[in-house]
Amino acid sequence: MDRICEPELMDERAQALAYAAADFSAGDQAVVERIAALVQPQTGAALLDLGCGPGNISFRLAERFPQARVLGVDGAAAMLQIARDRLAGAPGRWPALAFAQGLLGSGGLEPCPPARFTALISNSLLHHLHDPRVLWNALVPLAAPGASVYIRDLRRPASPEAVLALRERHLAEAPPVLQRDYVASLHAAFTVSEVRQQLVDAGLADQLQVAALDDRYLEVWGRLAG
Ligand SMILES: C[S@@+](CC[C@H](N)C(=O)[O-])C[C@H]1O[C@@H](n2cnc3c(N)ncnc32)[C@H](O)[C@@H]1O
Repeated sequence: MDRICEPELMDERAQALAYAAADFSAGDQAVVERIAALVQPQTGAALLDLGCGPGNISFRLAERFPQARVLGVDGAAAMLQIARDRLAGAPGRWPALAFAQGLLGSGGLEPCPPARFTALISNSLLHHLHDPRVLWNALVPLAAPGASVYIRDLRRPASPEAVLALRERHLAEAPPVLQRDYVASLHAAFTVSEVRQQLVDAGLADQLQVAALDDRYLEVWGRLAG
Protein backbone atom coordinates (compact mmCIF):
# COMPACT_ATOMS: atom_id res chain seq x y z
CA MET A 1 0.00 0.00 0.00
CA ASP A 2 1.44 3.38 -1.00
CA ARG A 3 1.90 6.12 1.55
CA ILE A 4 -0.72 8.93 1.65
CA CYS A 5 0.42 12.01 3.60
CA GLU A 6 -1.86 13.66 6.13
CA PRO A 7 -1.65 17.30 7.31
CA GLU A 8 1.52 17.84 9.35
CA LEU A 9 0.24 20.01 12.19
CA MET A 10 -2.75 19.09 14.34
CA ASP A 11 -3.91 22.66 14.60
CA GLU A 12 -7.70 22.26 14.51
CA ARG A 13 -9.06 23.05 17.96
CA ALA A 14 -11.60 20.17 17.86
CA GLN A 15 -8.95 17.75 16.67
CA ALA A 16 -6.51 18.82 19.40
CA LEU A 17 -9.20 18.55 22.09
CA ALA A 18 -10.29 15.09 20.90
CA TYR A 19 -6.69 13.91 20.90
CA ALA A 20 -6.06 15.33 24.37
CA ALA A 21 -9.24 13.72 25.74
CA ALA A 22 -8.43 10.26 24.40
CA ASP A 23 -6.93 7.65 26.68
CA PHE A 24 -3.52 6.69 25.29
CA SER A 25 -2.20 6.03 28.78
CA ALA A 26 -1.13 2.42 28.29
CA GLY A 27 0.89 3.19 25.17
CA ASP A 28 2.26 6.43 26.61
CA GLN A 29 3.45 4.71 29.77
CA ALA A 30 5.06 1.98 27.67
CA VAL A 31 7.05 4.70 25.87
CA VAL A 32 8.26 6.13 29.17
CA GLU A 33 9.28 2.70 30.47
CA ARG A 34 11.16 2.04 27.25
CA ILE A 35 12.97 5.37 27.67
CA ALA A 36 13.77 4.50 31.29
CA ALA A 37 15.34 1.25 30.13
CA LEU A 38 17.25 2.73 27.20
CA VAL A 39 18.20 6.20 28.35
CA GLN A 40 18.42 6.11 32.16
CA PRO A 41 18.41 9.92 32.52
CA GLN A 42 20.87 11.15 35.16
CA THR A 43 20.79 14.32 37.23
CA GLY A 44 21.22 17.26 34.87
CA ALA A 45 19.73 15.38 31.92
CA ALA A 46 17.80 17.44 29.38
CA LEU A 47 15.02 15.65 27.50
CA LEU A 48 13.42 17.00 24.33
CA ASP A 49 9.96 15.71 23.36
CA LEU A 50 9.57 16.56 19.67
CA GLY A 51 6.00 16.89 18.41
CA CYS A 52 4.76 16.80 21.99
CA GLY A 53 1.10 17.52 21.18
CA PRO A 54 -0.85 18.13 24.41
CA GLY A 55 2.14 16.87 26.38
CA ASN A 56 1.02 13.33 27.10
CA ILE A 57 4.56 11.99 27.00
CA SER A 58 6.23 15.17 28.32
CA PHE A 59 4.22 15.09 31.57
CA ARG A 60 5.00 11.43 32.08
CA LEU A 61 8.69 12.09 31.49
CA ALA A 62 8.65 14.95 34.00
CA GLU A 63 6.91 12.72 36.55
CA ARG A 64 9.21 9.73 36.01
CA PHE A 65 12.47 11.69 35.83
CA PRO A 66 12.16 14.64 38.26
CA GLN A 67 15.95 15.08 38.12
CA ALA A 68 15.77 15.96 34.41
CA ARG A 69 14.70 19.07 32.52
CA VAL A 70 11.99 18.31 29.97
CA LEU A 71 11.06 20.51 27.03
CA GLY A 72 8.03 19.66 24.88
CA VAL A 73 7.98 21.26 21.44
CA ASP A 74 5.19 21.29 18.87
CA GLY A 75 4.34 23.35 15.82
CA ALA A 76 0.60 23.45 16.51
CA ALA A 77 -0.63 26.31 18.70
CA ALA A 78 -3.86 24.42 19.48
CA MET A 79 -1.92 21.48 20.92
CA LEU A 80 0.52 23.65 22.85
CA GLN A 81 -2.29 25.60 24.44
CA ILE A 82 -3.65 22.40 25.94
CA ALA A 83 -0.19 21.39 27.19
CA ARG A 84 0.38 24.82 28.75
CA ASP A 85 -3.07 24.85 30.37
CA ARG A 86 -2.34 21.45 31.92
CA LEU A 87 0.99 22.71 33.24
CA ALA A 88 -0.56 25.90 34.63
CA GLY A 89 -3.31 23.81 36.25
CA ALA A 90 -0.85 22.24 38.69
CA PRO A 91 1.57 25.02 39.71
CA GLY A 92 4.87 23.74 41.04
CA ARG A 93 4.17 20.09 40.33
CA TRP A 94 6.61 19.82 37.39
CA PRO A 95 9.14 22.62 37.99
CA ALA A 96 11.53 21.38 35.31
CA LEU A 97 8.94 20.97 32.54
CA ALA A 98 8.33 23.59 29.85
CA PHE A 99 6.65 23.83 26.48
CA ALA A 100 7.64 25.85 23.43
CA GLN A 101 6.28 26.31 19.96
CA GLY A 102 8.68 25.04 17.34
CA LEU A 103 8.36 23.84 13.78
CA LEU A 104 10.46 21.09 12.26
CA GLY A 105 11.28 21.98 8.70
CA SER A 106 14.05 21.80 6.17
CA GLY A 107 16.12 24.22 8.27
CA GLY A 108 15.81 22.06 11.40
CA LEU A 109 13.78 23.01 14.47
CA GLU A 110 12.75 26.69 14.31
CA PRO A 111 13.27 28.45 16.59
CA CYS A 112 16.19 26.35 17.75
CA PRO A 113 16.34 25.93 21.54
CA PRO A 114 19.51 27.49 23.01
CA ALA A 115 20.61 24.31 24.83
CA ARG A 116 21.54 20.86 23.56
CA PHE A 117 19.71 17.76 24.83
CA THR A 118 20.94 14.51 26.33
CA ALA A 119 17.89 12.63 25.04
CA LEU A 120 15.77 13.25 21.95
CA ILE A 121 12.35 11.66 22.15
CA SER A 122 9.37 11.57 19.86
CA ASN A 123 6.12 9.66 19.83
CA SER A 124 3.82 9.62 16.79
CA LEU A 125 5.47 12.55 15.03
CA LEU A 126 7.33 10.89 12.17
CA HIS A 127 4.26 9.82 10.20
CA HIS A 128 3.01 13.44 10.16
CA LEU A 129 6.09 14.69 8.33
CA HIS A 130 5.70 14.98 4.58
CA ASP A 131 9.46 14.77 4.27
CA PRO A 132 10.88 12.53 7.02
CA ARG A 133 14.38 13.97 6.50
CA VAL A 134 13.34 17.01 8.54
CA LEU A 135 13.32 14.80 11.65
CA TRP A 136 16.50 12.85 10.95
CA ASN A 137 18.46 15.96 9.95
CA ALA A 138 17.28 17.84 13.05
CA LEU A 139 18.64 15.30 15.54
CA VAL A 140 22.39 15.95 15.50
CA PRO A 141 22.17 19.77 15.83
CA LEU A 142 19.87 19.34 18.85
CA ALA A 143 21.97 16.67 20.54
CA ALA A 144 24.55 16.96 23.29
CA PRO A 145 27.54 14.65 22.77
CA GLY A 146 26.48 11.01 23.12
CA ALA A 147 22.76 11.88 23.30
CA SER A 148 20.22 9.07 23.35
CA VAL A 149 17.38 8.84 20.86
CA TYR A 150 14.03 7.12 21.22
CA ILE A 151 11.38 7.52 18.54
CA ARG A 152 8.18 5.53 18.34
CA ASP A 153 5.65 5.74 15.57
CA LEU A 154 2.95 3.87 13.76
CA ARG A 155 4.04 1.63 10.92
CA ARG A 156 2.09 1.42 7.68
CA PRO A 157 0.04 -1.75 7.20
CA ALA A 158 0.14 -3.68 3.95
CA SER A 159 -3.42 -2.89 2.79
CA PRO A 160 -6.45 -0.63 3.42
CA GLU A 161 -8.20 -3.69 4.87
CA ALA A 162 -5.43 -4.11 7.42
CA VAL A 163 -5.83 -0.43 8.35
CA LEU A 164 -9.52 -0.92 9.04
CA ALA A 165 -8.83 -4.08 11.04
CA LEU A 166 -6.46 -2.11 13.29
CA ARG A 167 -9.03 0.65 13.70
CA GLU A 168 -11.59 -1.96 14.78
CA ARG A 169 -9.15 -3.62 17.15
CA HIS A 170 -7.86 -0.47 18.84
CA LEU A 171 -10.27 2.43 18.29
CA ALA A 172 -13.74 0.99 17.81
CA GLU A 173 -15.10 2.98 20.75
CA ALA A 174 -13.28 6.25 19.96
CA PRO A 175 -15.00 9.45 18.72
CA PRO A 176 -15.31 9.76 14.91
CA VAL A 177 -12.66 12.50 14.63
CA LEU A 178 -10.09 10.23 16.28
CA GLN A 179 -11.06 7.26 14.12
CA ARG A 180 -10.68 9.45 11.03
CA ASP A 181 -7.26 10.66 12.12
CA TYR A 182 -6.13 7.16 13.04
CA VAL A 183 -6.95 5.78 9.58
CA ALA A 184 -5.20 8.76 7.97
CA SER A 185 -2.18 8.26 10.24
CA LEU A 186 -1.82 4.58 9.36
CA HIS A 187 -1.90 5.47 5.66
CA ALA A 188 0.71 8.18 6.27
CA ALA A 189 3.05 6.02 8.34
CA PHE A 190 6.29 4.45 7.12
CA THR A 191 7.35 0.83 7.01
CA VAL A 192 10.35 -0.48 8.91
CA SER A 193 12.33 -0.87 5.68
CA GLU A 194 11.53 2.72 4.63
CA VAL A 195 12.75 4.02 7.98
CA ARG A 196 15.88 1.88 7.74
CA GLN A 197 16.61 3.49 4.37
CA GLN A 198 15.91 6.95 5.83
CA LEU A 199 18.54 6.28 8.52
CA VAL A 200 21.05 5.19 5.87
CA ASP A 201 20.34 8.30 3.79
CA ALA A 202 20.74 10.53 6.87
CA GLY A 203 24.05 8.90 7.80
CA LEU A 204 22.57 7.60 11.05
CA ALA A 205 22.38 3.87 10.35
CA ASP A 206 25.47 3.09 12.40
CA GLN A 207 24.05 4.93 15.41
CA LEU A 208 20.30 4.25 15.36
CA GLN A 209 18.41 1.04 14.81
CA VAL A 210 14.81 0.40 13.88
CA ALA A 211 12.50 -2.53 14.60
CA ALA A 212 8.81 -3.41 14.47
CA LEU A 213 6.96 -3.23 17.78
CA ASP A 214 3.75 -5.23 18.38
CA ASP A 215 1.00 -5.07 15.76
CA ARG A 216 1.19 -1.40 14.70
CA TYR A 217 4.31 0.44 15.83
CA LEU A 218 7.95 0.77 14.99
CA GLU A 219 10.67 2.13 17.21
CA VAL A 220 14.01 3.76 16.53
CA TRP A 221 16.63 3.96 19.23
CA GLY A 222 20.32 4.42 19.81
CA ARG A 223 22.97 6.89 20.79
CA LEU A 224 24.39 9.67 18.66
CA ALA A 225 28.14 9.88 18.35
CA GLY A 226 30.02 13.07 19.00
C1 LIG B 1 -0.10 12.44 16.82
S1 LIG B 1 0.49 13.86 17.62
C2 LIG B 1 1.52 13.14 18.84
C3 LIG B 1 1.57 13.99 20.08
C4 LIG B 1 2.43 13.43 21.23
N1 LIG B 1 3.80 13.18 20.82
C5 LIG B 1 1.83 12.20 21.85
O1 LIG B 1 2.48 11.14 21.82
O2 LIG B 1 0.72 12.26 22.36
C6 LIG B 1 1.67 14.53 16.47
C7 LIG B 1 2.10 15.94 16.80
O3 LIG B 1 3.17 16.35 15.94
C8 LIG B 1 3.00 17.71 15.62
N2 LIG B 1 3.75 18.01 14.39
C9 LIG B 1 3.53 17.50 13.17
N3 LIG B 1 4.39 18.00 12.27
C10 LIG B 1 5.19 18.86 12.95
C11 LIG B 1 6.28 19.69 12.57
N4 LIG B 1 6.72 19.75 11.30
N5 LIG B 1 6.88 20.45 13.52
C12 LIG B 1 6.44 20.41 14.81
N6 LIG B 1 5.40 19.64 15.23
C13 LIG B 1 4.79 18.87 14.30
C14 LIG B 1 1.50 17.87 15.46
O4 LIG B 1 1.09 19.20 15.56
C15 LIG B 1 0.99 16.98 16.59
O5 LIG B 1 0.78 17.70 17.77
